[in-house]
Amino acid sequence: MELAVVGAGHVGAVCASCFAAIGHRVRALDVDERRIALLQAGQAPFVEPGIEELLQRGQARGLLSFHTDPVEALTEAELIFLCVNTENGPDDSVNLTAVESAVHTAARLARDGAVLVNRSTAPVGTAQYVRSLIEELRGSSVRVAVNPEFLAEGTAVRDFLEPDRILVGAWDGQSVALLAEAYAAIVERRLPSDLRPVIIDGQQRSGNVPFVVTDPASAELAKYAANSLLAVKISFINEIAGIAEEVGADITKVALGVGLDRRIGPHFLRAGIGWGGSCFPKDIVALQGIAETRGLTARILRAANDVNTEQRLWTIRRLQSYFKTLFGRRVGLLGLSFKPTTDDLRNAPALEIASHLVQANVHVRAFDPVVKEVPPGFEDKIVLSPDPISLARGADALVLVTEWPEFAHLDLARLREVMRTPLLLDGRNLFDPEEVRAAGFVYVGVGRARGVAELEPRILSEEPSQSQEALTSARHGT
Ligand code: UDX
Repeated sequence: MELAVVGAGHVGAVCASCFAAIGHRVRALDVDERRIALLQAGQAPFVEPGIEELLQRGQARGLLSFHTDPVEALTEAELIFLCVNTENGPDDSVNLTAVESAVHTAARLARDGAVLVNRSTAPVGTAQYVRSLIEELRGSSVRVAVNPEFLAEGTAVRDFLEPDRILVGAWDGQSVALLAEAYAAIVERRLPSDLRPVIIDGQQRSGNVPFVVTDPASAELAKYAANSLLAVKISFINEIAGIAEEVGADITKVALGVGLDRRIGPHFLRAGIGWGGSCFPKDIVALQGIAETRGLTARILRAANDVNTEQRLWTIRRLQSYFKTLFGRRVGLLGLSFKPTTDDLRNAPALEIASHLVQANVHVRAFDPVVKEVPPGFEDKIVLSPDPISLARGADALVLVTEWPEFAHLDLARLREVMRTPLLLDGRNLFDPEEVRAAGFVYVGVGRARGVAELEPRILSEEPSQSQEALTSARHGT
């Protein structure tokens, strides 16, 4: 198919290169010339596993191209995907300027019968608004549909090619048919075999991917509801983590016991210093706004946000309870990006934690495997260290902020040796507390009361004979 993608940011670039990888001819458009030049050279302006391989492969095969000229990008397309920015404005209202400008361009250039598909997260009613704009500017020869994206940074290529579901909101069957055709290889799991190594876990899943068709408003609301529920789930487990610390429980085991219930599921139950990133904070606030403008109060969303704000204080509170005074202390942050496998610092907990520490006159250093520049506004707050040992040298405490996998293999004894005070705050519960303590540290995890860590949880086999054996050995502590 002939496809166009407007906006070559994280979502747009992944969308364009994945559609090209399954055989469509994709033209992507962006106003940013530097970004387009980078993408044309096969380089991504952000960290995302697998993306550069797909960019290079798609362009080498003549299936993928990047443009700043809308005429080149849009005129042939059967489907035009809008993947533009919808950042919240200063008053938390969603800024639709980029969507509106893309709609004007598409109305001018799209061919008859083309469908304008919004993938950007936008308030319920945006598709209806876009539809009325298009009707005014162009009449009914261009249709409108919604197809929310559910890509998480760091796993975006896999999330696109092996999604849990594809959600389409449309008014007409023709748009649904075109979208079904565009996604057919993904829905039927007919991905080219050379794509498998690019998909992170590389495992083939079975059964068709659910292709869910709804009215546009339901699809728009589903996107906000999904992100908000994930954020609520994390805030919930963080609230329980606070209780766990007080009652002498370990939240990682509580989460295991809770998450094995199929009705709940094990995902997004990792307690820590709270959620950040470009989506959850923006979307949960936008959904509250959507409710409030209709005279409703989104109490659960507000509470989830409050818990998350409070959770950012976990680090400073633990430091305060360990040291009499924080004045002049040196703290090293392990990780800056809001989560591993990305260089994204939007709403990164590390930055908020650093601000709190600097306010308490703490000297803050940080090491991150990919972030090599302090973001604007933090130049006088954070000093970057070239490696974990330099970070630890002379420090009073290390705080694990981002659970980069390589941090799990740090030489703890060596870090301990060069520190002034042996305190390790594990903001993501990455470490085995006993290993950290064995290396000479005082270990503090989120929701992990001291003394309960050494008992590993056991999941006994479902088979009766093995189950009996496991039970017996558990009772004897073997
Ligand atoms: C999220 C959604 O997952 C994705 O579907 C949507 O399209 C965009 O928003 P992303 O922001 O990239 O993706 O990251 P995600 O992996 O969802 O993590 C969000 C935040 O929650 C991170 O700060 C992460 O550290 C935190 N988190 C996640 C937890 O604290 N605990 C968990 O158990 C899971």
